Formats: sequence, C-alpha cells, structure tokens
Amino acid sequence: MKSIVILISGRGSNMEAIVQADIPGVRIAAVISNRPKAGGLQFAAGRGIHTEVVDHTAFESRALFDQSLAEAIDRHAPDLVVLAGFMRVLTDGFVRRYEGRMINIHPSLLPAFGGLATHRRAIDAGVRFHGATVHFVTPTLDDGPIVIQAAVPVLPDDTEETLAERVLVEEHRIYPQAVRWIAEDRVRLENGRAVVLAAPESGCSINPALEC
Ligand code: GAR
Repeated sequence: MKSIVILISGRGSNMEAIVQADIPGVRIAAVISNRPKAGGLQFAAGRGIHTEVVDHTAFESRALFDQSLAEAIDRHAPDLVVLAGFMRVLTDGFVRRYEGRMINIHPSLLPAFGGLATHRRAIDAGVRFHGATVHFVTPTLDDGPIVIQAAVPVLPDDTEETLAERVLVEEHRIYPQAVRWIAEDRVRLENGRAVVLAAPESGCSINPALEC
C-alpha cells in the first residue's frame, strides 16, 4: 500500500478526481491546505480523509512556512506528495526533501506557458493545442520530468473559461492515471526524464478522450 499526501489551495477538483478514482494500492493519508477556506477541505473531510491547514499567512517567511508544512506532511510518512492546485512557490530545501516523490499538475503543455493565466496566454499566442502536464517537482517552477500530458484543441471561439473547462476534464483524467502509474512502480526517473514502463499504446497519453 502506498500512502500519499495531497496539497491543495482552493477548489480541489483534482484532489477530488484522485479520491474518486479509488486507486488500488493507494491510501490518501491526508489533504493539507495552505488556505483555511479551501473548498476541497470539506469534500475530503466528508470522505473521512484527515484534513489539515498550514496557513501561510501565519508565517514570517517562506522558509518557516515550508518547514512547518514539511513537518505536517512527514507525520504521515507519505510515499508520494501530490500538489493539486497548490498555489505556493516552494523553497529549494522543501523541493529537495521530496525529490523524486513529489508531483504537480500544471494547466498547460509544459514547457510552454509555465506560471499563471495559462489559458489566456495560450489563446493570445494563437496555439492550436493546449493542455495539461503532470510532472515531478524540481526547484525550477513548473519544470521537471514529465509523467503524462494531455492535449486539447484550442477552438476559434474559445474564451479563457471554455478552454479552462476543456483542459480541466483532461486534468481529472491524467492526474489519477499518473498517481496509479507511480503507485504501481511503473515510473522511473532516468537521466532527468520520467520513463513510464509498459505505458498504454501510443496516443493514449495525448487526447485519450478522443482516441482511447
Ligand atoms: C488546476 O487547473 C491546476 O492545474 C492549476 O490550478 C487548478 C486547481 O484546480 N494548477 C496550477 O496552476 C499550478 N501551477 P483544483 O483546485 O480544482 O484542482
């Protein structure tokens, strides 16, 4: 049994997707938020999952916040830390502590559009495809070995909202998939890349909703 801790900051729909996927061999030890009012906390508590708040506004520095967050995480001794809409920049020390066992989901096809407002920027850039990426976390923001991506078309009349909605559907599919692969020990980090052993037939990780 692999134990995971999920970090959220808000709505928590990706966390919810992981909980609802009921991944064999995965136990969700805790859901931790840096915001006391994060909507996702209620959902998790309602499912009997241990919830906790480490409020970043109560700390004088990023380092002190990260230290307290790490203590909260480590009490559960997780095999994997899952950032699911956790909107804090993490210190290098924190990232190194969980090196190779912390993943993040980002709403773009990295390395394009790291940072914020990814859907707006994708529309403004005129790209024909956009999407989401699950990656291991490294000290560089929105960087690190890619586990899975999903692409969606950008349609001519897309707004930031319609595009975000289409991407979110894919996020909810690929994040549980990534956690499952890691829980099954099918993801190896080799020379800075994440290699997925016995991945599904090619095409499944890109636009699988249409093709698979
Ligand atoms: C998701 O779209 C996630 O990809 C994004 O925040 C949203 C959280 O939604 N994360 C980032 O932008 C991280 N750089 P959720 O709380 O409903 O899962």
